[in-house]
Amino acid sequence: MTYHESVLLRESIEYLGIIPGGIYVDATFGGGGHSRLILEKLGGKGRLFAFDQDEDAKRNTEQPEFSANPCFTFIHANFRHLKRHLRAEAVRPGTVNGILADLGVSSFQFDTPERGFSYRFEAELDMRMNKQEGQTAADILNGYEADALQRVFSELGEVRNSKTLAQAVVRARAQKPFRTTGDLADLCNKNLMGEKMRYLSQVFQALRMEVNDELGALEDILKDAYEMLAPGGRLAVITFHSLEDRMVKHFLKTGNVAGDQQKDFYGNIERPFELITKKPIEPSEEEISRNPRARSSKLRVGEKRDSTN
Ligand SMILES: C[S@@+](CC[C@H](N)C(=O)[O-])C[C@H]1O[C@@H](n2cnc3c(N)ncnc32)[C@H](O)[C@@H]1O
Repeated sequence: MTYHESVLLRESIEYLGIIPGGIYVDATFGGGGHSRLILEKLGGKGRLFAFDQDEDAKRNTEQPEFSANPCFTFIHANFRHLKRHLRAEAVRPGTVNGILADLGVSSFQFDTPERGFSYRFEAELDMRMNKQEGQTAADILNGYEADALQRVFSELGEVRNSKTLAQAVVRARAQKPFRTTGDLADLCNKNLMGEKMRYLSQVFQALRMEVNDELGALEDILKDAYEMLAPGGRLAVITFHSLEDRMVKHFLKTGNVAGDQQKDFYGNIERPFELITKKPIEPSEEEISRNPRARSSKLRVGEKRDSTN
């Protein structure tokens, strides 16, 4: 089984505009597809720091093209602490030439039954990308109040009957706590609204995003990325969810994920990035037919402006 088929691979690396000898970050190493191409473009000079919080992804760095490459450094950590980890590697803020984040989970994570990401396999409801820390999907289903569960289902999953489902979770767990993907899939089946597969995907995705605080981590990396980039450095983000895409779009335009326009001392609107992609780049029909998981992906790229101009 291939670990992961990289999405928008050629496009994202092209837009990063790799300078041989530059300093780059791949925030989401996964199967290393994007990292491999960045290293190729670096041509034996410069540095690539790759992050992944998943133990399984770390094993992919054992391939000689990574382990034997002096330009490559793997950081087994959550990318939300980007600045802290880069500083520990003696990389100063304002010096990085490009940062790529390809969000979400890899196919390997998704297709490994015991990780509990998918309703297709019977497994413990875990869903943590980092199995060493944080609460599992079962902890959330068994512990959150009904209104908090409703928020998760409606905001992160766009589940239309989020209130009904949240109340059903609370009633069901009073009889028997949630333990497996099957427990949750059964409850979904009893409360279906719309097409079955779509409903299950929405509920499972919402929980996964909550378990891993994916929106919180995205907000943190965007802020750190801005600080770490050199003027002229590029930030490229591939998203798979409309909320994530909106956050990235706002951040590139305004410097914050809410999209609030900030003014400087003279009343000029601050524009922290030059938009390299005016509209998001989406996968070609050919890519979608080869890799259906690319379907909802969107790439946005910004170039950090020189604040002294
Ligand atoms: C879509 S995959 C990346 C695939 C990769 N670009 C490739 O070409 O193989 C996302 C990866 O990012 C990791 N990841 C997601 N959120 C993370 C976070 N907050 N910190 C560190 N790694 C994260 C996941 O564990 C997963 O391996």
